[in-house]
Amino acid sequence: MEYRELGWTGLKVSAVSLGAWQFSESWGVLDYNLAKSIIEKAVNVGINFIDTAAVYGRGKSEEFVGRALKELGVKDKVLIATKLPGDFMNEYDVFKGTERSLKRLGVDIIDLMQVHWPPIWHNFPTCEYMRALERLVIMGKIRYIGLSDFPVELIESARQCLSVTDIVSIQIRYNLVERYAEKELIPYAEREGLAILAWSPIAKGALSGKYDSKNLPQFTDVRANDAVFHPENMAKLDVLINKLRELSQKYNKTPTQIALRWLLQYTPNVIPIPGAKSPQQVEENAGAADFILSLEDFLELDRISRSIRISYVTW
Ligand SMILES: NC(=O)c1ccc[n+]([C@@H]2O[C@H](COP(=O)([O-])OP(=O)(O)OC[C@H]3O[C@@H](n4cnc5c(N)ncnc54)[C@H](OP(=O)(O)O)[C@@H]3O)[C@@H](O)[C@H]2O)c1
Repeated sequence: MEYRELGWTGLKVSAVSLGAWQFSESWGVLDYNLAKSIIEKAVNVGINFIDTAAVYGRGKSEEFVGRALKELGVKDKVLIATKLPGDFMNEYDVFKGTERSLKRLGVDIIDLMQVHWPPIWHNFPTCEYMRALERLVIMGKIRYIGLSDFPVELIESARQCLSVTDIVSIQIRYNLVERYAEKELIPYAEREGLAILAWSPIAKGALSGKYDSKNLPQFTDVRANDAVFHPENMAKLDVLINKLRELSQKYNKTPTQIALRWLLQYTPNVIPIPGAKSPQQVEENAGAADFILSLEDFLELDRISRSIRISYVTW
């Protein structure tokens, strides 16, 4: 496993880490023992960073992560990132929500607390929640603060509210089909020395090579209405998926590993956090960290992925 800097913290986290949204009704891993076996495999292959959130299964994911790390005896070896939703971003709820997350995770301090999304429907003032989070850092309940799904302008305003600390990371949707973050967010994070946690790094499985326009998935999970899987968009993806399949033969890797590897090579700041529904998937995903794509192949994937424009207007 390769390890990367978590922003300016000095902490080293696995270049491919683990997303834990899968431990929820949204994705269907509701059996604790299965979740524990995924986490156990993650730790065994060198993953030391797990991303969860209060909203994932309304606390279930946090509970599973905390319980598994404790039972496996690796609580001190793995860093946990969690998130408070935008809806909780008034001062009172930042404290109350953090208290609940601490309890569910069974820890004394949360390594990385992220604002899951800005409080767009609630009109909570930015400095109110940022200062509440900073107070929790001062009190030793949160180690570091991160922002998720924030545009650059709002990241800037949020950072200006802090007096004694700064954010360490941003979390963004980033995969070979959805590269919009390359325009503003990634250059910003690179300039500012922030870690970039990449969510949906395999486009929710669309880049795994399991699906294509002739083999469209019939999802009943969170992906049922996902634009990427709309037949019109999947038809556009075929050329990319076929290239990933071709390169997987060349490198003796899987299409998923090639897709993750491309992100890792785009910038050293990026830390993909793919979700996994089995120990096999987590092991495979970790395998993206131990090989290198040639410049030629990197650029060919870049060219093909740039030629695809999916549409979110699907209805
Ligand atoms: N901050 C945010 O707003 C936000 C939003 C979304 C996600 N996230 C975080 O990012 C993490 C990852 O994102 P995501 O779950 O949306 O998408 P993802 O990681 O791109 O895709 C995960 C799905 O892909 C399939 N998969 C995973 N590994 C595979 C492998 N090796 N081979 C074949 N298929 C594989 C699995 O589903 P199937 O096997 O059923 O195909 C899995 O559930 C989440 O767990 C969460 O922690 C954050």
